[in-house]
Amino acid sequence: MPVPGPGYSITIRLEAAPSASAAGELASAVGRVGGVLTAFDVVESHSDRIVVDITCNALSANHAQDIQDALVALPDVRVRKVSDRTFLMHLGGKIEVNSKVALRNRDDLSRAYTPGVARVCQAIAANPEDARRLTIKRNTVAVVTDGSAVLGLGNIGPAAALPVMEGKAALFKKFAGVDAWPVCLDTQDTDEIIRAVELIAPGYGGINLEDIAAPRCFEIEARLREKLDIPVFHDDQHGTAIVVVAALRNALRVVGKEIGDCRIVVCGVGAAGSAIIRLLLKQQPGDVVAVDIGGVVHGGRDDLDPNRQWIAANTNKQGLTGDLHKALVGADVFIGVSAPNLFGADQVATMAERSIVFALANPDPEIDPLEAQKHAAVVATGRSDYPNQINNVLAFPGVFRGLLDAHAHRITDDMLVAAANAVADVVDAEKLNASFIVPSVFDPHVASAVAEAVRAVAVRES
Ligand SMILES: NC(=O)c1ccc[n+]([C@@H]2O[C@H](COP(=O)([O-])OP(=O)(O)OC[C@H]3O[C@@H](n4cnc5c(N)ncnc54)[C@H](O)[C@@H]3O)[C@@H](O)[C@H]2O)c1
Repeated sequence: MPVPGPGYSITIRLEAAPSASAAGELASAVGRVGGVLTAFDVVESHSDRIVVDITCNALSANHAQDIQDALVALPDVRVRKVSDRTFLMHLGGKIEVNSKVALRNRDDLSRAYTPGVARVCQAIAANPEDARRLTIKRNTVAVVTDGSAVLGLGNIGPAAALPVMEGKAALFKKFAGVDAWPVCLDTQDTDEIIRAVELIAPGYGGINLEDIAAPRCFEIEARLREKLDIPVFHDDQHGTAIVVVAALRNALRVVGKEIGDCRIVVCGVGAAGSAIIRLLLKQQPGDVVAVDIGGVVHGGRDDLDPNRQWIAANTNKQGLTGDLHKALVGADVFIGVSAPNLFGADQVATMAERSIVFALANPDPEIDPLEAQKHAAVVATGRSDYPNQINNVLAFPGVFRGLLDAHAHRITDDMLVAAANAVADVVDAEKLNASFIVPSVFDPHVASAVAEAVRAVAVRES
């Protein structure tokens, strides 16, 4: 059952009688309808009334209205204004550009801008590699989207995608000191996206593709990697794959199994599932069985695109056919990046002993985690209100920090594997248990460990 969280937080400014019991009555009214009170501030005080800001977490717009109604139903209470704190946070956007140099006088101007800057331009013209030494290219990543697969919202377009891209840029800065900037493209044509990214690439040290729908995202990434001399990384694919593989490594430590002995069912072969399967195959698993909306992916199906044909050819050693429920029988691991509510505890009971279930469809997972826990030994989701959150923030900031520090021109599978191992290793034997298979997203060691692991591989491969 979901609990009200800060993602839907409101502040209600209201007038109430200045009685000794007012605060308690207001707080109780919020609690009675399931709101979670997080702050109570008196903003004005008069002999006949007080004005207070009540801040609380709700579940939805309807729930926020219920809370407001419960407060208004109290005697002598009048609501002045309701503010949605999430919208307040977005007013004017979430990121900005700051100058690193002081511009106090003509002397500063002459060096930061003309005429002095001209000599720096000429140096770069003579030696283009100097762009990494003398410009923002050294630390800057483009967060590129076409707005076609934004969160669980689908194809909402480039402008509506901007708040997510701004958030991503803020995370890059916070966790790894990377200067990332949103690039929201007003096209969903593969060739146009590739051309646009190619045209802006000189100013960036890396390209982070974001929320671009499958299967288009596969071709865009592959062709950009061919064309550009900077790393191109689709976070929905590889960021997810890194964290899933890290979490699986630790989950297997918890249940005492070797990956080489495990059959892993991956449900969903879109952006996330395809990348997870490819990275899993690098770990020499016993077998991987992929499942999509048409059932188990196998060579006998005639509806497979090139991506799923590759998956059919490289997975499912036993030639399984049928649906997800059939694939789960005897499986050691389930990894879902597909759709909500596909199975229940009865199907988990058919899996092998000490099974592992990662139900990552957002916001509603493939199985209710509380149902999964009835039979599985380790359960993870993509949600922040359950333990073991599979969150890409554990990977992408450190990955780009390492790539930028190494002046890398490309990203390789070995770097993804190194990043996954680094995330997993942050959880040492002391901390590891069934409810703690991945580190906290706020663990300051994660990004630096990932960066160092990626940098080391990049330097070795350069
Ligand atoms: N860190 C995380 O927790 C994390 C990361 C990435 C994606 N996800 C979640 O995973 C899901 C998939 O993301 P994506 O970007 O790969 O999407 P996508 O659209 O590219 O792929 C979805 C896949 O799910 C399959 N699918 C849909 N309905 C199905 C069903 N009923 N049975 C079996 N398969 C079904 C489709 O065939 C497709 O292969 C989303 O819910 C997303 O939020 C979570």
